[in-house]
Amino acid sequence: MARLKLAVLISGRGSNLQSLIDACADPEFPAEIVSVISNVPDVQGLERAAMADISAAVIDHRNFDGREAFEATLNAALDDSAADLVCLAGFMRLLTAEFVNRWRDRLINIHPSLLPDYKGLHVHERVIAAGEAFSGCTVHYVRPDMDSGPIIKQAKVPVEPGDTADTLAARVLAQEHIIYPEAVRQIAEA
Ligand code: GAR
Repeated sequence: MARLKLAVLISGRGSNLQSLIDACADPEFPAEIVSVISNVPDVQGLERAAMADISAAVIDHRNFDGREAFEATLNAALDDSAADLVCLAGFMRLLTAEFVNRWRDRLINIHPSLLPDYKGLHVHERVIAAGEAFSGCTVHYVRPDMDSGPIIKQAKVPVEPGDTADTLAARVLAQEHIIYPEAVRQIAEA
């Protein structure tokens, strides 16, 4: 069985990348990571890729004159990698509609809320401030509007009394690490 080829785009810590690396380490898992690309140099996610012997590159958006030039280089790198599916994993750069449409149904994202609720940044702070009883995380296909698109998988967690953004983030993150590989498996086996 040919494994689905993944490119993983990161901007930082890369713990979701790690969950995909760990899943792909199982030869029975129906996907493999062919490329890791970070738009930020010297981040922990790049070390994780190196440890796993995965080809990794930095495409620093600050070196480009505008989003189109940045994305042209990103597209060329993704094409070179022959990726079937691009996984955004803590990739904190907005992508243009042109880029998103080029990768339509081959581009997925993980977001730390129960979408369509709490799109954008500072999710956990906002969830706590609103007094929500539950939060969670979502893996979804990417569409041009930020944090929108068909939902592939969600996990729900309780908001506990006394939660801070950090304690809630940790509870949500543990679920992210479960559902991202599950979503990739679902796509690979569809
Ligand atoms: C994760 O919680 C991910 O859901 C979130 O950033 C974190 C990255 O952590 N992504 C977004 O907020 C995207 N809008 P990681 O680098 O350890 O995977």
